[in-house]
Amino acid sequence: MRRVGPAVAAALLLGCVQGCGQGDPPAPSPGPAPVPEPGPGPAPAPPAAGGAPDVAAGAETYATYCASCHGATGAGDGPVAAGLDPKPVAHSDGAYMNALSDEHLTRVIALGGRAVGKSSLMAPWGGTLSDEQIRDVVAFVRSLADPQPDR
Ligand code: HEC
Repeated sequence: MRRVGPAVAAALLLGCVQGCGQGDPPAPSPGPAPVPEPGPGPAPAPPAAGGAPDVAAGAETYATYCASCHGATGAGDGPVAAGLDPKPVAHSDGAYMNALSDEHLTRVIALGGRAVGKSSLMAPWGGTLSDEQIRDVVAFVRSLADPQPDR
């Protein structure tokens, strides 16, 4: 028995613990991000409330908790997937995934498939992952989509 609801609510309240400091902001993506010119102007804007999602951290979380079913590249072909019905959603399927809101993804990851009318084979992770880890893993899941979400 896991008490998911209160844990998630608590995690949401703690959203600022790590992301709001003055320390080095996490790199927004592993891709070739344009390096801001170190001019005399004001420093680059700090991440928005809660900080920018850390896609690299999300990748680690995904490899640890999600890839067994969803596959290392999100193709829905993890080693456990063969025995599941329904099959884990292919996060690489942009046509499907890009239609789902961040809110929906956060909800299904935190509260499980049943919370969004899907299979309970998709477990609730809110008791295992922090709010920040869920936000990071959502960002990583987005990065798997082909085509990429257009925004
Ligand atoms: C035990 C296997 C398993 C694991 C581990 C697992 N999932 Fe799933 N997941 C599923 C299955 C099965 C579905 C499809 C449910 C359905 O179609 O009813 C699913 C569906 C989803 C969906 C799609 C929801 C939707 O509305 O279509 C997302 C997003 C998702 N999982 C994210 C994750 C993330 C992130 C993790 C790791 C934290 C994870 N899953 C771990 C089995 C798993």
